[in-house]
Amino acid sequence: TNGKKNSMLNYWTYFAKGIEYTLIITVVSVFFGFVLGTLFALMRLSRNKLTHGLAVSYIEFVRGTPLMVQVMFVYFGIGAVIQSLPALIAGIIAVSLNSAAYVAEVIRSGIESIPAGQTEASRSLGLSQKETYRYIIIPQALKNIWPALGNEFVTLIKESSIVSIIGVTDIMYQMQLVQSATYKGVIPIFIAMIIYFIMTFGLSKVLGYFEGKMKHA
Ligand code: ARG
Repeated sequence: TNGKKNSMLNYWTYFAKGIEYTLIITVVSVFFGFVLGTLFALMRLSRNKLTHGLAVSYIEFVRGTPLMVQVMFVYFGIGAVIQSLPALIAGIIAVSLNSAAYVAEVIRSGIESIPAGQTEASRSLGLSQKETYRYIIIPQALKNIWPALGNEFVTLIKESSIVSIIGVTDIMYQMQLVQSATYKGVIPIFIAMIIYFIMTFGLSKVLGYFEGKMKHA
């Protein structure tokens, strides 16, 4: 009826805010996911039974439960202890902790893909266990791990959409605001979909470019 009021162009700021929050959650969670994931990977590779067991338990449990439940658990669980925990912080914590479990497996398989001969050669040349990891294993492993880490980034852009259920003003949350404001059901969904696609496709292209560069380096 009212073409002007319901034009999607009038709501671009809603979507812009959503994009901003989706990007914040994704970028911060990729960072912490990588740091924690590296830690869990090394713990899982440890010969210490307790350290190994803790890492395995964490990784399997997190991968075996839905991110949606984890997000709600962090928000309402920590929220019950710490009064007025911001939804954004809860969302970042949950997505980071979730990503860490997946990244840990990526890093572990990357490290395990380096042939034992590399370690043996390094140790026989007199490098310590630590030095072997630092100078021989990790640099080679990173080359194999890098593309999978890029995939994790793309995954988190999409999977972070679940934080909208606790009220984080990401793309999906903002999309619902536009639905309510315009009484339009489908068009806002379609716009959100296109936004996600531009983000993931664009990022894939950028990552692919760097991947190609690294291959020839
Ligand atoms: N939808 C999946 C789940 O509910 C989320 C998986 C997250 N994946 C990731 N690589 N961080 O478990």
